[in-house]
Amino acid sequence: MATITGPLSGAAKDTVAEALQGALVDLIDLSLVAKQAHWNVVGPHFRPLHLQLDELVAVVREHADTIAERAVALGVNPDGRSATIARSTKITQPDATWIEDGKVVATFTDVLEAVAKRMRERVDVTAEPDPVSQDLLIAVAQDIDKQHWMFQAQR
Ligand SMILES: [Fe+2]
Repeated sequence: MATITGPLSGAAKDTVAEALQGALVDLIDLSLVAKQAHWNVVGPHFRPLHLQLDELVAVVREHADTIAERAVALGVNPDGRSATIARSTKITQPDATWIEDGKVVATFTDVLEAVAKRMRERVDVTAEPDPVSQDLLIAVAQDIDKQHWMFQAQR
């Protein structure tokens, strides 16, 4: 069977693989919880939040693909399976019901703050073993910070 080899090996490869997989799980689950809220948000601010949540979905889906493909380029198999996401996500899951607009703003402010913190940790740990992966994670962190701002501003 053909396999992919990259420039990293040993502990450096393991460290970067863990950071990229963690980022992938966060990004995929962010896209899922954002869609859930996109569909179920209710209240006077339904319309802007409905649209804003789809902007968030678009941003994180794009980054998820970039991060997964970086893993592949390093010879690491990204795992984006639903069971893996469900087992390993750290994102609090919304109830499967209507979500008031104010609660959407509060929830996504908190979720994005937590994801931003984890992305920054991944930026830190990849600095030495692989600045190329770190560069991608910095781009992710930049957009997560921006999304966090745009929900926080509505509180
Ligand atoms: Fe939609």
